[in-house]
Amino acid sequence: MKALILAGGFGTRLRPLSCTRPKLMFPVANRPLLDWIMESLSRKGVKTVILAVNYGADILSRYFGKSKFGMNILYSRENKPLGTGGPIKKAEDLLNDDEEPFFVLNGDVLSSIDYAVLLRFHRANGAQVTIALHEVENPSRFGVVELNGESQILRFVEKPRLEETSSKLINAGVYVLDHSVLDLITPEAKVSMERDIFPTLASKGRLYGQRFDGLWTDIGTPGDYLLANTAMLNIIAKDRPLIGKDVEISSEAKIVPPVVIGDEVIIERDACIGPNAAVGDNVTVRGGSKIANSIVFPRAWIDSSTSVKNAIIGESAILGRWVKIEEGCIVGDHVIINDDVTLAHVKVCPSKEVEESITQPSTVM
Ligand code: GDD
Ligand code: MG
Repeated sequence: MKALILAGGFGTRLRPLSCTRPKLMFPVANRPLLDWIMESLSRKGVKTVILAVNYGADILSRYFGKSKFGMNILYSRENKPLGTGGPIKKAEDLLNDDEEPFFVLNGDVLSSIDYAVLLRFHRANGAQVTIALHEVENPSRFGVVELNGESQILRFVEKPRLEETSSKLINAGVYVLDHSVLDLITPEAKVSMERDIFPTLASKGRLYGQRFDGLWTDIGTPGDYLLANTAMLNIIAKDRPLIGKDVEISSEAKIVPPVVIGDEVIIERDACIGPNAAVGDNVTVRGGSKIANSIVFPRAWIDSSTSVKNAIIGESAILGRWVKIEEGCIVGDHVIINDDVTLAHVKVCPSKEVEESITQPSTVM
């Protein structure tokens, strides 16, 4: 069984952190999102993964190499973005050596969807495409489906306006595709599965959906990325923190689970980490500082008496003393925040230095 993962989006809503890495490499509970996805595919018997890459291709191929979790990894590289459908057609030769159906996954979704169940359901219905579905409160940022009874999709609308549909069942970004679908996609063209292919299949009665409850988050926005991190922390480190190798954690520091702490992290006395915090490798947290509901990328340096709440701190960022990084902040890689600065709802582009407090929504460029 093969799976193609769409791994080439620009991650525009996660800038500035996505300026320096693809969205799929963002750490969730200290491991790249794509690691979690690949591991769950391998557990369901997938033997070959095709990464459809474009933006950030080198970073992905350097990290994943030719095999991982016992699966072969192949790369299909676009010269220009081909959307969500074009990359599937482009990989036709890699998919085509057997006539089996295959999985297609949006690479930015963290979920507990059981791929094997989806495949069984696909075969039982004789569907051309089967989509994993998930119910959400606000469906307008997603592809929304209307069902005929339990499973046949009558209508598929990508990013509908509120009044356009009353359904809350969305496309969860995980599909089983029959080989015949490849014939519907124009080669070398930018094609959207959601706008160009699924609505037509629905009108022909060949599109099916299977609903999944449980964990599901698209990490496309900073808020959802933090939610995905918290959800994973609750699965792997709910009662006891997961702590890496060669750490120096003061006995007078406080760790409040769920928390993960990477390798070679230093946490000084009276610091408080958690709840819902992921601290990457080689991070230093000096005395009296606090990190809660946040993600700190590797090699960040957080000086004493500083607090980070509901925020994301990029790689090798340096936060001075008495700094407050509050709700909605994204601090880019290699940024320097000077002593006593308070930031709220601010995005700071890579390598910038911030000398004064900013508490209005803004971007430091
Ligand atoms: N290779 C490649 N080339 N991949 C791409 C390209 C491209 O040109 N454009 C986007 N992708 C990848 C992204 O990296 C992501 O993994 C996936 O395709 C979906 O793109 P997003 O940009 O994240 O789409 P979305 O979140 O707005 O909407 C999609 O996902 C929702 C569920 O998370 C749609 O499939 C919706 O219908 C769905 O509900
Ligand atoms: Mg997305």
